[in-house]
Amino acid sequence: MKAIAVIPGERDLRCVDRPEPSVESDRDVKMRIVRVGICGTDREEAAGGRALAPAGCKDLVIGHEMFGRVTEVGADVTRVKAGDYAVFTVRRGCGKCRPCNLNRPDVCLTGEYRERGIWGLDGYQAEYAADHEQYAVRVPPELAAVGVLCEPLSVAEKALNEAMLVQTARMPEDAPGRAWFTGRRCLVAGLGPIGLLGALALRLRGAEVWGLDIVDAGSARPQWLEKIGGRYLDARSVAPDKVDSTLGEMDLIFEATGVPSLVFNLLDALGQSGVYVLTGIPGGARSIQVPGAELVRQLVLDNQVMIGSVNAAPAHWEMAVGDLAAAHRLWGDHVARLISHRHPADDFEVALDHHGTDEIKVVLEWST
Ligand code: BGC
Repeated sequence: MKAIAVIPGERDLRCVDRPEPSVESDRDVKMRIVRVGICGTDREEAAGGRALAPAGCKDLVIGHEMFGRVTEVGADVTRVKAGDYAVFTVRRGCGKCRPCNLNRPDVCLTGEYRERGIWGLDGYQAEYAADHEQYAVRVPPELAAVGVLCEPLSVAEKALNEAMLVQTARMPEDAPGRAWFTGRRCLVAGLGPIGLLGALALRLRGAEVWGLDIVDAGSARPQWLEKIGGRYLDARSVAPDKVDSTLGEMDLIFEATGVPSLVFNLLDALGQSGVYVLTGIPGGARSIQVPGAELVRQLVLDNQVMIGSVNAAPAHWEMAVGDLAAAHRLWGDHVARLISHRHPADDFEVALDHHGTDEIKVVLEWST
């Protein structure tokens, strides 16, 4: 079958031939890939950055944001059946630590996890994929147009849930769960797909949402945010450490830019006992200067929390499917407009290029 692969460390993305996977155990699920999203991680891999080929291979099939249709299942599979739409998750456990053995590789303790399409396992930019049913999540047919957003949304769901869990553990007097977010003042930094999907999850929970980016207010991402009730602030018009004087202090900051200098400058906008959750993964190794004493003083004296969050557990994937359904009921086709660019799989090189400020999510179409 056709697949798109990269040689880790090199800038050489190419179409390769891989054996079509098959159902090898009673618990396996095989899917025909419908479409696969492209994110910063894929672009980083294609540019010679962070990526690891499967053991014994020189290249890695990229792609981790998949959406597919089940073609075949093993005799004991109960989660999905042939004809269902579904997604496969990304991370596979190390098999050694307690979280991985509890199917929580998203919090693996050894760091020896693997990730399909990123780290040591072939990904989903291919015609077919197969895996164990424990990694399959069913997507109802009414969400077929947006199912490819499950993976980035699962990442945002985990990050927000972690923030809420920490805050409600510190203040058990506050309402736990989704109710905790109601009326909270939240700043989303970086309106890429993760930022906008984070904003979507926050709006569904009744939070007040401000989005920060460096694009014109009339362009696709701020416009998309405003239609779900968020407000936009152009970071070119206000310095990051002046955001609080423009908008007031925030209960929660959701960081999705991966720009370290911005991460630290924005801390200023976090209010007393606020929570700051980081999801952006910076590329490169450039160092920055930060006003260390000031930042530590603020974190301590204001009882603030900073959390890093990566990947997602099965529960967050379920939250993603649930929130896509809720968003679809509330905002209809607007949700699918997050997919701004579609390319046939053969046009992968064009798809991996940047598409300007009107790009939100780019996908490769493999089948209908
Ligand atoms: C993916 C995550 C993954 C992370 C680190 C992100 O782009 O969405 O699933 O864990 O990269 O490799």
